Amino acid sequence: MERPFPTVAVVGLGTMGTGVAVAVARSGRRVIGIEADEKSAARALARIEESTAHAVARERLTAEERAGLLGRLTVGHALDAAAEADLVIEEVPEQLELKRELFAELDRICPAGTVFATGTTALSVTRIAAATARPDRVLGLHFFNPVHTMKLVEVVRTVLTAPQVAEDAAALARDLGKEPVAAGDRAGFVVNGLLFAYLNQAAAMYESKYATREDIDAAMRLGCGLPMGPLALLDLIGVDTARTVLEAMYEQSRDRLHAPAPILGQLVSAGLLGRKTGRGFYTYEAPGSSRVVDTATDPARPGVTGREVRSIGVCGSGTMATGIVEVFAKAGYPVLLAARSLEKAERAKAQLAKSLERSVARGRLTEEQRDAALGLVTPVGQYGELADVDLVVEAVAEDLGVKRELFTALDAIVKPGAVLATTTSSLPVVACASATRRPQDVVGMHFFNPAPAMRLVEVVSTVLTAPDVTATVLELCAKVRKHPVECGDRAGFIVNALLFPYLNDAVRMLQEHYATVDDIDTAMKLGCGYPMGPFELLDVVGLDVSLTIEQVLHQEFREPGLAAAPLLEHLVAAGCLGRKTGRGFRDHARR
Ligand SMILES: NC(=O)c1ccc[n+]([C@@H]2O[C@H](COP(=O)([O-])OP(=O)(O)OC[C@H]3O[C@@H](n4cnc5c(N)ncnc54)[C@H](O)[C@@H]3O)[C@@H](O)[C@H]2O)c1
Repeated sequence: MERPFPTVAVVGLGTMGTGVAVAVARSGRRVIGIEADEKSAARALARIEESTAHAVARERLTAEERAGLLGRLTVGHALDAAAEADLVIEEVPEQLELKRELFAELDRICPAGTVFATGTTALSVTRIAAATARPDRVLGLHFFNPVHTMKLVEVVRTVLTAPQVAEDAAALARDLGKEPVAAGDRAGFVVNGLLFAYLNQAAAMYESKYATREDIDAAMRLGCGLPMGPLALLDLIGVDTARTVLEAMYEQSRDRLHAPAPILGQLVSAGLLGRKTGRGFYTYEAPGSSRVVDTATDPARPGVTGREVRSIGVCGSGTMATGIVEVFAKAGYPVLLAARSLEKAERAKAQLAKSLERSVARGRLTEEQRDAALGLVTPVGQYGELADVDLVVEAVAEDLGVKRELFTALDAIVKPGAVLATTTSSLPVVACASATRRPQDVVGMHFFNPAPAMRLVEVVSTVLTAPDVTATVLELCAKVRKHPVECGDRAGFIVNALLFPYLNDAVRMLQEHYATVDDIDTAMKLGCGYPMGPFELLDVVGLDVSLTIEQVLHQEFREPGLAAAPLLEHLVAAGCLGRKTGRGFRDHARR
């Protein structure tokens, strides 16, 4: 097949345009760069020369490749030059009228066969196409910043775009070493459509003072493996840009979850746009710097110290209980592993021994450390033996009746002053507390699976939790080398309240046939650097577990946008629960 678009014009050589021009020229194509005026054109060419010299210095490009690339590229300020191109890629500022005028002008200049692509992030490609007499030859090509490292390109088709035009554009993207995903014309396309709704919820969570900015960011990094926390990312993207994208999304969806959080408007009005102005959610050393200078280091409760913890009891014998026992034993705490029968407790200890063995095999633990940890764990078959421990962590079945019964039993057994913690992920901590006569001593300690590997612990205080009880758990987390984040007792805590609405949005996108499972997963991994795409993650977590969490969130906040997507309900009803049943969003059995 002939390579599509041998000559490409790039109009607007700013952040995106220069990156795109270089990528296209690098693929061996002729590039006609066009700027607004002579001065901007000269500046753009200088930037291209500089960035390619930098690439040579970093050995991403050879000197010959650079010379060849620059030889194929011209930069000027006459739009008429676009007449020679097979494809025009527009990368001018994000203003609808500016783009429409430019496309109308290009339509007069270029032969009827020339394809036009807009680089818009959030404007309607259809409305831009309508400024021309060739809407069938207009599409969106959404590159990501910085173009030379980001592999994703969203190829956006309107209802009028000819299929062949989109195919050629996708082939061009592959030729540039990029991964194209197909998207329809909807504000935000795939990546921003999913990303910005989540960023907005994070901003709203911060605004409601549910958790600190550091805790929200740490929770998402450590709990989900995301490269950046949402508030730090908003500062990087630019609070103004985020607000514009959300406005465009809300205009189309009328979903309140897309209505920009009021704090975004406040920051924009105050000129606090993020890193570029030196301050947004965080304060930076200087405009453009990535160094945060107002990091909070002071303790949340000055003067409050925790209670002493010398011994710990863990209730339960499943994955979480075993993992939590491992965390404490490895840190040197004597642990009573209490299950409903001694046999179950002993079996859990055997599981723990296996896990420690694996760590030894991987060189992460010495044999002495393994033996020392195992020696600290005593399996017991009766909760009665927990009378003298200083802290109990409960990790039994996620069933409020079961947990309340356990807390009532612990209340009767455990010595006064001990801290009672639950590791529930979706039940109210206060409902466990109220099953005791000492609700002030009850707190949430939400570990993540697998507990030995995941550093995050959400420390959940109810309205009744005593400050020194929260402090006890925070101090303990530090001693066992976990990263605690503090939050209140409401559905989803920090991580699940931000993660599951995003997963639900992805399911809705699929259900509406907006994009495919593979395209959505690829887009989120390449566009945002996420370790897994939403459907991969749903299949790992389990569709039934995910549905329950979404229902709990919807029940708590009653936000229409949080209602679980019917497709998820259908899959669960059909027994497609993800990896554990061999089939979820993907068929794992056939692989
Ligand atoms: N920056 C990002 O992270 C990013 C990512 C993806 C997509 N986008 C989108 O890409 C497009 C370009 O954004 P950017 O960040 O590169 O903007 P930018 O402001 O860095 O660059 C725009 C350039 O267009 C030039 N220009 C303005 N009017 C022109 C005209 N009439 N003719 C020719 N050139 C003209 C300007 O001089 C400027 O150099 C926007 O639609 C934006 O939403 C941006």
